[in-house]
Amino acid sequence: MKHVFVTGAAGFIGSTLVDRLLTEGIQVTGWDNLSTGQIRFLEGAKRNKLFTFIQGDNLDLPELSKAMMGCDTVFHLAANADVRFGTEHPRKDLEQNTIATFNVLESARQNNIKRFAFSSTGSVYGESPVIPTPEHTPFPIQTSLYGASKIAGEGMISAYGEGFDIECYIFRFVSILGERYTHGHIFDFYKQLLENPKKLRILGDGSQRKSYLYVQDCVDAILHVIKLGTAKTAPHHTQLYNLGTPEFVQVNDSVRTIVDSLNLNPSLEYTGGNKGWIGDNPFIFLETKKISQTGWKPKLTIKEGIVKTLRWLEANPWVYEVRTDAPTQV
Ligand SMILES: NC(=O)c1ccc[n+]([C@@H]2O[C@H](COP(=O)([O-])OP(=O)(O)OC[C@H]3O[C@@H](n4cnc5c(N)ncnc54)[C@H](O)[C@@H]3O)[C@@H](O)[C@H]2O)c1
Repeated sequence: MKHVFVTGAAGFIGSTLVDRLLTEGIQVTGWDNLSTGQIRFLEGAKRNKLFTFIQGDNLDLPELSKAMMGCDTVFHLAANADVRFGTEHPRKDLEQNTIATFNVLESARQNNIKRFAFSSTGSVYGESPVIPTPEHTPFPIQTSLYGASKIAGEGMISAYGEGFDIECYIFRFVSILGERYTHGHIFDFYKQLLENPKKLRILGDGSQRKSYLYVQDCVDAILHVIKLGTAKTAPHHTQLYNLGTPEFVQVNDSVRTIVDSLNLNPSLEYTGGNKGWIGDNPFIFLETKKISQTGWKPKLTIKEGIVKTLRWLEANPWVYEVRTDAPTQV
């Protein structure tokens, strides 16, 4: 990897990946339309001679293809990362996650790029009857437009891998935590507690079980397998990995960690039911045997990840001014 193209470079995970690649002396072109991304996350990167930022949109194929010129690897992270509101704008996931992925693949093909990595999601498993859910679980029934649009993107990636001899890596993440976190349940809970430390509204009944992974562990895992080059010899040039921790927590456990670490004792209000919204999966726990067998393991527990996220939100109140539309409690 000498010159890498990162879509979603100004996002939570994308900007963390950009910083890590630059630390390793790799040239990076970052691409982002700044719809949810924050240019502030790239302040450090922009001071590095190895970094170029291009503001552009994945739906603009000619400009995307031009921007990718000279790169040897693509990390495609840009997406509509909002799982919850798919039913309010059904076309958005199709455009931002499926058609956009086609455009990124097509640009890679036009530039003869032979390595492609994709941030997919555990949401593609819907409500899997197999827990912990392995990569080879029977083809899942989709329960969210987000999951459906991501699995369609996955399908196109592996077909490009086979058709155009591209080394493809698909990573299905659990929810990611850590510095630069700008959407999700901790974002929402902390916001509520800032406004009123005495009351906390929780979607569902709090018994939902979820798994989380710290963002630096996520980036470690991605770079670890790409450096090993595991897709080079994989059938159809595609490797698929679940990324998560070997543990899960209940939403109620998460609430306890958050209120304890803020030293608060709010009354808890539940909206009820075993899920927070249509398409919410009441139990997400991915099997991570396959990625572990490559020698990677997460450094932080879920609890440590939650506390790190909270400390970052406390130190960066500005994110609440710029992400007023952030989806909640994922
Ligand atoms: N955060 C999580 O818990 C999580 C879990 C599973 C999968 N993922 C996936 O990881 C990736 C990164 O997620 P994130 O949490 O960093 O989200 P994010 O919203 O912080 O980052 C997405 C970035 O993509 C950019 N973007 C969106 N649409 C674009 C377009 N059309 N053209 C160019 N740029 C565009 C946004 O401005 C943003 O900077 C996404 O693909 C998401 O689906 C995230």
